[in-house]
Amino acid sequence: MNAVDVIRTKRDRQPLSDEQIDWVIDAYTRGVVADEQMSALAMAILLNGMTPREIARWTAAMIASGERLDLSSVARPTVDKHSTGGVGDKITLPLTPLVAACGAAVPQLSGRGLGHTGGTLDKLETIPGWRARISNAEFLRQLGDTGAVICAAGDELAPADRKLYALRDVTGTVEAIPLIASSIMSKKIAEGTSGLVLDVKVGSGAFMKDLDRARELARTMVELGTAHGVDTVALLTDMSVPLGLKIGNALEVEESLEVLAGGGPADVVELTLALAREMLALAKIDVDPEKALRDGRAMDAWRAMISAQGGDPDAPLAQAPVTETVLAGESGVLATLDAYQVGVAAWRLGAGRARKEDPVSAGAGIVIHRKPGDRVEAGDVLLELRADDENRLAGAHEALKNAWTIGTAGAAPSLILEKIH
Ligand code: URA
Repeated sequence: MNAVDVIRTKRDRQPLSDEQIDWVIDAYTRGVVADEQMSALAMAILLNGMTPREIARWTAAMIASGERLDLSSVARPTVDKHSTGGVGDKITLPLTPLVAACGAAVPQLSGRGLGHTGGTLDKLETIPGWRARISNAEFLRQLGDTGAVICAAGDELAPADRKLYALRDVTGTVEAIPLIASSIMSKKIAEGTSGLVLDVKVGSGAFMKDLDRARELARTMVELGTAHGVDTVALLTDMSVPLGLKIGNALEVEESLEVLAGGGPADVVELTLALAREMLALAKIDVDPEKALRDGRAMDAWRAMISAQGGDPDAPLAQAPVTETVLAGESGVLATLDAYQVGVAAWRLGAGRARKEDPVSAGAGIVIHRKPGDRVEAGDVLLELRADDENRLAGAHEALKNAWTIGTAGAAPSLILEKIH
């Protein structure tokens, strides 16, 4: 077998054989296939697609590139959630302890942010003392004891994906549905969960800008999960407007704590509860998650989860020293607030990173004062920008130039668009 023949097959729109797929993933993981060869293959896949059989085999080969966790020692039913990512999407933070408080075990292996979308680990690392990296033994112990773990995936979990995702990021090949689906699902299947709820985002702030592509991605992932014995459902949810009112690392922890205390913005609460209900249904647990939010059980589970990883749940969160407000220039109703542009502005303020080695600011970000559908008067505060350094403000203002419209009517878009199972 050689890499050039594999590339030519896909270049010429022929399906790859099982042997070709197994070989190329294994050889790439071992460094026998070079980055430039894998880049060419990824581009051929992006342009010419893959059949369902090829996607299934590609995913299986990525899983086989590393270890598969065995969660059979955990007494509670295991169920996880994955979001394809968006702006202000902090749902994992309140959702994981909430579902644990209802009796399931949530083995949440998370990532860091890149570009305009945030990462769960960056958010939790704003809590003093909290550690993202734990050993497999600690992971299993904590999952059994508290039912809730959010941590970094170990290096041994789908190593082919780690290499390939970094390569796709710099070769314009992230957007291929077969590659996104296999990347996400190889990690989730290798993590060993029995049930999985996918939150597939649709809109300007998401990977998938339109509903048809989001639906195709969701269907592909649901089929992959099911074929590997993971009970999988997907919700397609809106990401044309930022989720919640706070965007930024510590700011999103702050908003998650509001939700866990029984408050928080309506859209964050709605999505947290919708995903919790889907997860609990997969785990066959008949408990009302709304009650667990209101009576403090979810907050207790949060505190246990954070403390177990060395975090101090009572420590004050970082506050950025520089604050500036953005005002409405006219009166009316806020018609749109673009998730992508707000996400880019938060990134420019320091909340996100351009390269995976870059640091992120804990306190930087944006507080939203008006959402679509809200009445505004000229001079009202629309957004509050927060940064560690005032030199960051100009880039954020530039990103926000066309980020909203004020008209005579407007309404918040529906949040939950479709369910795929
Ligand atoms: N997230 C992943 O883990 N992989 C992708 O390819 C895209 C998003």
